[in-house]
Amino acid sequence: MKSHIVIITSLFMLPISFSMADSKTVENLIQSYIAKGAASPSIEQGKQLWQKTFTGKGEFPERSCVSCHTDDLTALGKHVKTNKTIKPMAPSANPERLTSSRKVEKWFKRNCKWTLGRECTAQEKANILLYINNPIRF
Ligand code: HEC
Repeated sequence: MKSHIVIITSLFMLPISFSMADSKTVENLIQSYIAKGAASPSIEQGKQLWQKTFTGKGEFPERSCVSCHTDDLTALGKHVKTNKTIKPMAPSANPERLTSSRKVEKWFKRNCKWTLGRECTAQEKANILLYINNPIRF
């Protein structure tokens, strides 16, 4: 049963995700990642990467996107270093999210470097972007 769901969702992932992307920014960014070699983005893989823990140095040996943004994308986050509140990531909870390609790219770069110790690949960005855009579907 589970494998059926995976096959069905991966078959229809692209059209569904595009029709659900209410923001042109999300659609344009995903097209640009595909142009850089990414395959059809996967919300499930985006979620896994969002929650995955990476090893860091110094004061923060365990790092993940969840460290600052929490695993509920519709909830308020908290910056691990500054303790400042971070507004929810999901556009459904915060309509300002994913409306500027420049902002998304800037923070992907900075946050992937801090969390993973390297920049995210086009595939990883496509997966995460789709997950942030549609967190409730899985
Ligand atoms: C050390 C804290 C921290 C971690 C860890 C972190 N972020 Fe962020 N992130 C921020 C802050 C601060 C902002 C900018 C403030 C804001 O927009 O509310 C931000 C903003 C973003 C944005 C901008 C979204 C938009 O349209 O406004 C994206 C995308 C993002 N982060 C993705 C990630 C991803 C992916 C990871 C994990 C690889 C991650 N973040 C890990 C602190 C963090």
